[in-house]
Amino acid sequence: MIKYTTTFLLLVLLLGTKTQCSKGANILGIFGTHSPSHVIVHMAVMKTLADRGHNITVVTQMKPKLAAHENITVILAPPTPERQKFIKEYMEEVSNEKPSFWETMAKVVVTSANQLEGQYEFMVHPNFKQLYENPQTNFDLVFLGAMANDFQLGIAAKLRCPAIITWVGVPLPFMDSLVGNVNDPSYVPSVNVALEPGQNTMQFGLRLGNLFKHYFLTTINKLLNYKMNQFYERAFGNESDPNFPTYDEMKRRISLLFYNYHSPSEGPIRPTVPQSIEIGGIQVKEQSDSLPKELAKFLDNADEGAIFFSLGTNVNTNTFRPDTVDILYKVLSKMPQRVVWKWEDLENKPGNASNIYFSNWLPQDDILAHPKTKLFITHAGKGGVAEAQYHGVPMVALPIFGDQQGNAEIMTKSGFGRWLDILTLTAEELEESILEVLENPSYRETIGKFSTLYRDRPLTARQSVVYWTEYVLRHQGAYHLQSPLIHMDFVARNNLDVYGVVLIVSLVVFLILIVLFRWVFRKVFKVVRGHSYRRKSPQLKNN
Ligand SMILES: *[C@@H]1O[C@H](CO)[C@@H](O)[C@H](O)[C@H]1NC(C)=O
Ligand SMILES: *[C@@H]1O[C@H](CO)[C@@H](O)[C@H](O)[C@H]1NC(C)=O
Ligand SMILES: *[C@@H]1O[C@H](CO)[C@@H](O)[C@H](O)[C@H]1NC(C)=O
Ligand SMILES: *[C@@H]1O[C@H](CO)[C@@H](O)[C@H](O)[C@H]1NC(C)=O
Repeated sequence: MIKYTTTFLLLVLLLGTKTQCSKGANILGIFGTHSPSHVIVHMAVMKTLADRGHNITVVTQMKPKLAAHENITVILAPPTPERQKFIKEYMEEVSNEKPSFWETMAKVVVTSANQLEGQYEFMVHPNFKQLYENPQTNFDLVFLGAMANDFQLGIAAKLRCPAIITWVGVPLPFMDSLVGNVNDPSYVPSVNVALEPGQNTMQFGLRLGNLFKHYFLTTINKLLNYKMNQFYERAFGNESDPNFPTYDEMKRRISLLFYNYHSPSEGPIRPTVPQSIEIGGIQVKEQSDSLPKELAKFLDNADEGAIFFSLGTNVNTNTFRPDTVDILYKVLSKMPQRVVWKWEDLENKPGNASNIYFSNWLPQDDILAHPKTKLFITHAGKGGVAEAQYHGVPMVALPIFGDQQGNAEIMTKSGFGRWLDILTLTAEELEESILEVLENPSYRETIGKFSTLYRDRPLTARQSVVYWTEYVLRHQGAYHLQSPLIHMDFVARNNLDVYGVVLIVSLVVFLILIVLFRWVFRKVFKVVRGHSYRRKSPQLKNN
């Protein structure tokens, strides 16, 4: 830990001296998504740059959950009430039904016109428009949170500054094609194609499914692009500047792609170009703060280790069925370990067991970072799971709604813990799972190995964001990083012209050879025939 901290400090120092030139830049973040979990990731990127001293302006549809920051200005461009209703229904449907990949995609296609229209309304919202239509505004760089909204790149064109795309997970073909990442369906898994743990190639069945998903997504990408171009024309078609870039030109002017993924640990390795930068875990705090005194003492003295139990902020443990709380209390209160339990209503605690510390406010990340914490009982929200993975703490998951079920299943499949159904939970089951995860060393070893790989990088996620963003600022867009691929048309990219010429030349040579061969053959045949005729004639004469 000490070694790690020293290395970190050293890197910060090195980076600091290397980039001391950068005076604070004016950076605009455009995050039109209506998913709160996307906003968390994008805001983590923005906060990193704000801490560094850049002046950040963010435009979003919803108020981000982030403490006020002196270097961040948030401008809200909320959706209209009708649009809001549509979004709410859509999100509810998606999160309650746990739809399959194909159902989700079908929904994306069916609602795409509405989604794009929503993104267009966001872009021309008066609060937003006055920012980029105002000739006084001066930005050095635009961040665009990817969300089927590529036409919003036109704002970077209006502000005459480079654009960086940020994405919240592993890149989809939509983003891969923007920077020229190789997306070969034989070894690059598509969305929701999960490899078996410890394997890095796909077997026949997976590759077959992967191929279909790949071409399906690529086709959707083509269709969306067509529509996207129409929206771009609608918004920027009237520009008086004759050199105003077209939609396709803007797509070839992207400086970087940041994506929240770490392939060496999350695997498998992806063939990506230098322009696409992994910032996996950007939303996880890199250095823990010290815990409140009382809690620190409670954990420091946990000789048998500690269990951290929290079902997040959206779920209130008071609203549980009383018998579920009874089961949880019964099992946890007789554990030899100390337990830190997130509980809202401190007037009415489930009990007074001396091994349990109840609190309604707990710094989750700092507790997970504590060396005595041996187990995390969680609702398997994305953030909590990522933090436990980062700190190498195995889990028992009690998923409640939304994507939590899926997160819990992947977590179990990866060997980081177990999951239980909270609706049918029994005390025996809970106790058995807790003991299994605490006592069987495989869970701790598996997640510990992941954690070690996850943290072992030349630059941390935050350092990568700072370094590469300032690199783009220093080099006016850093377009030299771009892959040649994105500047080539279909024919050149697939070398069709070259193959065509080679084929034609080969054919011509082949034909010439045939003609030549026949000619030579005839000649030789004639000579041979003439020869044998002449050789034969004396015989004839003799006869
Ligand atoms: C905000 O930016 C300034 C430089 O412009 C910097 O000195 C300050 O530390 C930043 N504030 C925070 C909270 O990081
Ligand atoms: C920082 O950004 C805000 C909001 O866009 C702007 O009003 C302010 O003038 C900027 N500050 C500097 C020093 O550029
Ligand atoms: C572009 O010009 C047309 C015709 O003058 C007008 O109807 C339309 O609203 C304009 N679009 C924008 C985005 O200003
Ligand atoms: C816990 O102790 C407090 C104060 O001693 C008491 O009022 C409360 O009823 C106790 N709770 C339980 C569940 O025993």
